[in-house]
Amino acid sequence: MTGWPTGLASPSWGGDYNPEQWPEHVWKQDVELMRRAGVNLVSVGIFAWARLEVADNRFDFGWLDQVLDLLHDGGIRVCLANATASPPPWLTGANPDMLPVRADGVRLSHGSRQEYCPTSPVYRDRAIALTEKIALRYGEHPALAAWHVNNEYGCHVSRCYCDRCADVFRDWLRARYDLDGLNRAWGTDFWSQHYSSWDQVLPPRVTPTLPNPGQVLDFARFCSDALLDLFCAERDVLKELTPDVPVTTNFMANWTFSALNYWHWAAEVDFVSNDHYTRADDPERHIELALSADLVRGLSRGEPWLLMEQSTSAVNWQPRNFAKLAGEMRRNSYSHLARGADGTLFFQWRQSRAGAERFHSAMLPHAGEDTKVFREVTQVGEEYGRLAELVGSTVDAQVALVYDFESAWAAEQPAHPVAFDYYATVLGLYKALWRLGVTVDVVPPSADLTGYRLVVVPALYQVTDDEARWLEDHVRAGGHALVTWFSGIADENSRVRPGGYPGAFRDLLGVRVEEFFPLADGDTVRLTGGLSASYWSELLHANGCGVVSSYVDGPLDGVPAVTRNEFGEGVAWYLATTLDADSAVTVLSDVLAGAGVTPTVSAPPGVEVVRRRGERISWLVAINHTGADVVLPVEGVELISGVDTAGGLPVPAGGVAVVREV
Ligand code: GAL
Ligand code: ZN
Repeated sequence: MTGWPTGLASPSWGGDYNPEQWPEHVWKQDVELMRRAGVNLVSVGIFAWARLEVADNRFDFGWLDQVLDLLHDGGIRVCLANATASPPPWLTGANPDMLPVRADGVRLSHGSRQEYCPTSPVYRDRAIALTEKIALRYGEHPALAAWHVNNEYGCHVSRCYCDRCADVFRDWLRARYDLDGLNRAWGTDFWSQHYSSWDQVLPPRVTPTLPNPGQVLDFARFCSDALLDLFCAERDVLKELTPDVPVTTNFMANWTFSALNYWHWAAEVDFVSNDHYTRADDPERHIELALSADLVRGLSRGEPWLLMEQSTSAVNWQPRNFAKLAGEMRRNSYSHLARGADGTLFFQWRQSRAGAERFHSAMLPHAGEDTKVFREVTQVGEEYGRLAELVGSTVDAQVALVYDFESAWAAEQPAHPVAFDYYATVLGLYKALWRLGVTVDVVPPSADLTGYRLVVVPALYQVTDDEARWLEDHVRAGGHALVTWFSGIADENSRVRPGGYPGAFRDLLGVRVEEFFPLADGDTVRLTGGLSASYWSELLHANGCGVVSSYVDGPLDGVPAVTRNEFGEGVAWYLATTLDADSAVTVLSDVLAGAGVTPTVSAPPGVEVVRRRGERISWLVAINHTGADVVLPVEGVELISGVDTAGGLPVPAGGVAVVREV
């Protein structure tokens, strides 16, 4: 992180503000209500291109001048968009060639948003020209706190299959391979796919049956890079014209999205920001939120980050859009804060009357101020004012969890033993750590693991030789590792590592797997030690490792399922199946105990506690997801109430607490 929105003393609170959807007389009222709600930061202009450049090279900035002045007078900081997220109809109409093309050859039409192909020179030139105008006009505006570039790159169109993208993809490949190398990497002797000249190479468009896995994987890499290139071009304009204004773009590091390699993206922003929406039908949605927040902190290399969007209540894009329960948005906000966010914003300030998102909740609902939502917004906004001292602090963690976007792209392809969901698989294991009250830092493969007592490696499907050696070296030198099934299977081109699974990690784990035995939906297998598992099993041979638990029924009766290998000075565990929730907690508590990892504080099940640490002091943020009041063995001053907690910290049912520790 090399920057942070300027002029903010306490955690940021606010949301996307789209005044162009409202008549002028509403703007003043907005600012007054924002002040009442403790709002200190809003994102303005994200989708305003058509209102700013009203026709080819004809600009109207008057309304935005007025809005920014009003916000500034109200003491509200602005994360100003460069407004390139949704090109206007006059632009796409004149340049249909800038519209993206799907894998089946259909060119998408105007009438929604994100209607651009990432490699379109027209789009890029016009986006850059608009960015320049905005930077020149507002670069010195006193309300400006940061630049918000574009919006959720790739959210709707992460891959474009047009002829131009095909050309640029070929250039991207030529920078990495010669033609022989490409044929080897993609294994093109299979099904007569051998390429004898570069012009035969295409994006993985719709084909009669399964595409080439190496081609799909490289195209995913290329598409992430192509969008990143676009971001960098927009960012560079801003950095050149306004070098002191921090730049971000909002990521979607969460359960809904995996098309961009955010490890690469995170290196290019001044501060990391993320959007997160809970999955309303998931009773454990708060644990998914925690994983997303830890992942974002990882992307931010441990530095504070900004939650750019969440919802106050229902969204409008899930199969059934449940409202958030009373107190839920508050708990969500504090979970993000606990896990390193120095601010939590919403989509959006005022609920729209028209357009596709009119049934999406907002800070100020259709029903107005006299609502559960607005009251809760005002409450948390006021509370954040008392939490200024947390800003800039980091988060304590003893465990590292390896997360790899490319393994998702490689392992989620068709024609695998099971339909695989990488994020869900990581989340499955993460839940056990959450239940055990242990905070994890999410790291990329090959990260520096100094200081971590345990590294958890879920489904790291594809690894380079260097990455495999990195984990081996770590354990050999005394580290503890836990690796789960479908790790180390393939190299970086999705070619299987032969000799038995889990290929790259066979020696480290002291096992050899000869065949996968996926289980049928709903099937459960029993294991020794009172454990049970489902979804996956494999015909595994202990090859020097110790056996912790074996199947006692099912097709693999007697075969090891959980193993532990002493390797060099360290220990490497292997989970060859998907343990059920309680069993995962049982095994993980042994793994953690062996590695010397302890929970942040001893708290009842369902109570989340995370420690943030400053230079001299530390804080505990507690979120009670249960329906019972609890008292935690924690001493200090509770910052929201100002009360001394010498006799233990009460956290009411569904409530939160923030304690400065003594
Ligand atoms: C995000 C997007 C916002 C809004 C929101 C609704 O993906 O950035 O503009 O559409 O979703 O949940
Ligand atoms: Zn394209």
